[in-house]
Amino acid sequence: MAGLGVNIDHVATIRQARRTVEPDPVWAAALAELGGADVITLHLREDRRHIQDRDLRVLRETVQVKLNLEMAADAAVTAIAVEARPGQCTLVPEKREEVTTEGGLDVAGQLDRVRDCSRQLADAGIEVSLFIDPDLAQVEASQSLGVAAVEFHTGRYADADSMAQQLKELETLRTAAREALQAGLVVHMGHGLTYRNVVPIARIAGVSELNIGHSIVARAVMVGFQQAVREMKTLVSGPFE
Ligand code: PXP
Repeated sequence: MAGLGVNIDHVATIRQARRTVEPDPVWAAALAELGGADVITLHLREDRRHIQDRDLRVLRETVQVKLNLEMAADAAVTAIAVEARPGQCTLVPEKREEVTTEGGLDVAGQLDRVRDCSRQLADAGIEVSLFIDPDLAQVEASQSLGVAAVEFHTGRYADADSMAQQLKELETLRTAAREALQAGLVVHMGHGLTYRNVVPIARIAGVSELNIGHSIVARAVMVGFQQAVREMKTLVSGPFE
């Protein structure tokens, strides 16, 4: 059975829209734990568009389940990760202009850079996972670096525009999971997973962790909206003396 990693980045996105203190991703992480999250995931991006350094520091103190830091294979954020020592770091490609992480990390194409970063993390006692496309060459490159895990990018499955295409992408993910498990890697998956498309992915044999963010935050806004309005309505309705 796959564990659920809850990505809280977009709670911070709402906060950063006003550069204020709410909603606090630290509160969201606690509520996610109460809801059964097995992992709390956050991405400290170079441009700090959502998660801030303070969030990582406080979450490191408060989160009781595994803390998974997504980060670029870059010297500055590696130094921050080594200092913070989360349970796991997931190396992802990062481009300033992208809306979200658009593809997997090209491990095969930048072996030295990824090796250097993952060694520093592993030496600090952090489990390293590489976010890759479901592709044998990337699995083999990841295995050659001796990392603990890979996370397969499920974006092509999630974005498929026909049932036939989605089934094809599902099969690609199944095959990649088998290859990674045979290579001795722990298998995670994530990106674009929703309440509608997650079940076939959760059923793939041997998947240990699913990381899901946008869909959970989007649902949380909707299921909490009515109560939030009711509470404000009570305040503005009086009676006032
Ligand atoms: N896994 C990784 C490596 C990611 O970069 C992201 C997005 O930050 C996710 C999972 C979660 O994706 P989504 O927000 O689409 O659920």
